[in-house]
Amino acid sequence: AADTAYESENATIVQGAVESNHAGYSGTGFVNFDNVVGSYVEYSVNAAQAGTHTLTFRYANGTADNRPVKLTVDGGDKGTVDFPATGAWTTWKTVTATVQLTAGVNKVRTTATTANGGPNADKLTDTFTAPVDGEPP
Ligand code: GCU
Repeated sequence: AADTAYESENATIVQGAVESNHAGYSGTGFVNFDNVVGSYVEYSVNAAQAGTHTLTFRYANGTADNRPVKLTVDGGDKGTVDFPATGAWTTWKTVTATVQLTAGVNKVRTTATTANGGPNADKLTDTFTAPVDGEPP
């Protein structure tokens, strides 16, 4: 199945702002998480098929420090996703997480776990990689 992209500026944003002052983002901007624990971006990922999905987060982190976030799907803890330094706020890279999604809408939330907040979040791309029975798609 085709990848589906979700722009962060269209997601649910709590303690963050849509900005466009660092070039290289897709869509119309990116989300600047507030620099506090608990700021979050929640994407409504509409999965055509249940099973294993790769979530690819495109981001920038112009500081020297990792900006880890807690990943949840419909409130279920999926662990920590690291967003290491990219070298500049205009340098955008990707990190991935592998999760199980149900068919239909899944609330994928990334929540800052440090006082630095999250990275600048450009978009999330969902790639279906295997159905529930484990066979390739
Ligand atoms: C700078 C940068 C922002 C970034 C922020 C941060 O202010 O311009 O885009 O979000 O640092 O540290 O989070």
